[in-house]
Amino acid sequence: MIMVKEYIESNQQRFLDELFDLLRIPSVSADSSKKNDVRKAAEFIKEKLAAAGVDKVELCETPGHPIVFAEKIINPSLPTVLVYGHYDVQPPDPLDLWHSPPFEPVVKDGKIFARGSCDDKGQVYMHVKAFEAMTKLNSLNCNIKFMIEGEEEVGSEHLGTFVAANKEKLKADVILISDTAIISLDCPSITVGLRGLSYMEVEVTGPNRDLHSGVYGGAVANPINVLSKMIASMHDENGHVTIPGFYDQVVELSASDREAMNKAPFNIDAYKKELDINEIQGEKGYTTLERTGIRPTLDVNGIWGGYTGEGTKTVLPSKASAKISMRLVPNQDNKEITELFTKHFFSIAPKSVKVKVTALHGGQAAVTPTDSKAFKAASNAFEEVWGKRPIPTRDGGSIPIVSLFKKELGLDTVLMGFGLDSDAIHSPNEHYGIKNFVLGIETITSFYKHFSKA
Ligand code: BES
Ligand code: MN
Ligand code: MN
Repeated sequence: MIMVKEYIESNQQRFLDELFDLLRIPSVSADSSKKNDVRKAAEFIKEKLAAAGVDKVELCETPGHPIVFAEKIINPSLPTVLVYGHYDVQPPDPLDLWHSPPFEPVVKDGKIFARGSCDDKGQVYMHVKAFEAMTKLNSLNCNIKFMIEGEEEVGSEHLGTFVAANKEKLKADVILISDTAIISLDCPSITVGLRGLSYMEVEVTGPNRDLHSGVYGGAVANPINVLSKMIASMHDENGHVTIPGFYDQVVELSASDREAMNKAPFNIDAYKKELDINEIQGEKGYTTLERTGIRPTLDVNGIWGGYTGEGTKTVLPSKASAKISMRLVPNQDNKEITELFTKHFFSIAPKSVKVKVTALHGGQAAVTPTDSKAFKAASNAFEEVWGKRPIPTRDGGSIPIVSLFKKELGLDTVLMGFGLDSDAIHSPNEHYGIKNFVLGIETITSFYKHFSKA
């Protein structure tokens, strides 16, 4: 381990310089005008994996953005780890809230500020550099495959087909992903659950054209008023989602499981302070950790319509729209929830408007085993590098491909992420601690050591 640590220390500045080059590529998968940049990020990863010593690396084309696939087969009889991550990033908007440009990484207070620094370029790059360190020091004692995709932030549309069509190529013993968070630098954790997702867009249409809000206001349905009311009605006073059947498949955790998950350190005052809120809210009867970890939710992600420019315009708009996502928990099927939502949304629409509902993307929740050889190797790695045994946590975010890996390849995943909830992923001023980056590389190399020994 000393050897690896020294290697990381003496190469740290180069590692960071390379990561900065990757962060300078605006690989926003949702933005079609950035298509070439997304590909550039894929090429960058490909080049760096080649330089780090893989046997072969290729860009696998999809109808969308390419998948980087690479492998190093030390000995076919040894176990194989398949590393998954994504090189695409979320749009940087709103730009004016960034303290420095999102694609010009800067270090401040030991943190790298840039879109993708934590989610997920910084975490993917830890794997590339951990691999480099192990090949250079000749310490790698198992086989590694890499599958780094460019469509995670837009729902991994083409990855499912790719996985199903390349089972032999992707053959492995376990999936390893760093795309989640730890509790804190003092309290390492391993994610053992992710929520699923069902993402909808709705459109409510009133009159066939925008109207004068004085001439027609009060007599014709205003789609924004109607949509707001419909959205408001989708939660009751106890914070439950009112869509009939929404909770039918939800697995209730046992009292002892709930007790265990609430033992994780959580400081409500620090939480409120960090977000600058006076009070928390949510489903009655559940703690904050439960609300984000094991309960399904419904949230409006965006809402638009009417006049939003400078000053005023007296208008009764023809249309109003919203993007609504539901976070799902194990056993809830995202397709079924999508159907329930659609049916419900039509049923609550007044006759004065027409509605349109479109499903954008979705995926299943996942829970990962804690008794596997790989999970134990990850725990041991954290303990070795961080001096503490990691706590298992259920995260609120989604990586829909995790359930697909299980279904298509029969493989379990270890979610060994190194971000912090406060890293502002998807928000302005996303950042990633250099300490997290460095310790992460060390922990990954330690994982391979323990995994190969087991
Ligand atoms: N890395 C995140 C997911 C995540 C973040 C899991 C923090 C656990 C903790 C991932 O890149 C992501 O943002 N996923 C999307 C879903 C996707 C289908 C767009 C999400 O959770 O919104
Ligand atoms: Mn991610
Ligand atoms: Mn993300």
